[in-house]
Amino acid sequence: MTPEVIPSAEWADAVAGRLADAIAANPSLVLCLPTGSTPLPVYDRLPGVLRARGGSAAGVTIVGLDEFLGLPPGHRARCDTILRHRLLDRLDPPVGRFIAVEVDRADPRSACAAFEAEVSGAGGIDLVVLGLGRNGHVGMNEPGSRIDSPTRVVELTPSTREAAIGYGADPPPTHGVTLGMAPILAAREIWVLATGPEKGTILQRVLEGPTSPDVPATLLLGHEGLTVIADEAAAKGRR
Ligand code: PGA
Repeated sequence: MTPEVIPSAEWADAVAGRLADAIAANPSLVLCLPTGSTPLPVYDRLPGVLRARGGSAAGVTIVGLDEFLGLPPGHRARCDTILRHRLLDRLDPPVGRFIAVEVDRADPRSACAAFEAEVSGAGGIDLVVLGLGRNGHVGMNEPGSRIDSPTRVVELTPSTREAAIGYGADPPPTHGVTLGMAPILAAREIWVLATGPEKGTILQRVLEGPTSPDVPATLLLGHEGLTVIADEAAAKGRR
């Protein structure tokens, strides 16, 4: 498939603008958002873009894409903490609702089922935004994930554990929970974000296919609402 390629210096503004467009088009948008480094510049800009346009996310439901297990509430490496600090706490008025897997429950497996039910009750996900992992993962759907994988507890790969150390969790968690490939594919629209030259090789693999569980992002190919939004650095990094 063909990605949308945006000059690197304009990429974050452009994606924030598109998110604001999506919210303007559907003020009760159910929007699933990732953490990781890729979307952070977008989150830094979105509150200002909404303010400048007189827009509001007050009717929006945010769904957390994934979460580490075993970190206490408020830990700085937790995805919900990062999402709150980098975006939700900066939105005025605040978003209407934030749905995340209740990982602090004694049984995170039952929390996954409750989360999927809550998302369905909210009408399902309109738009899921994903960062492209270097190994092709989306959320914590690591290589080996299948198109019918539900929201579930997963064992983290060494590269995801390494990322957790970078966020301040040392020793890093061994497991996490992720929105599954099945509920991602059930979303009406999917945006895959890729920035920087280090994403060039995996971006090319995803765009060219073939579809394979070894590269979970390729399982999204064929979804009619899929858009890949890359910056020039990632697009040029393609071999
Ligand atoms: P990154 O990670 O945005 O930190 O590059 C993407 C991912 O691994 O999900």
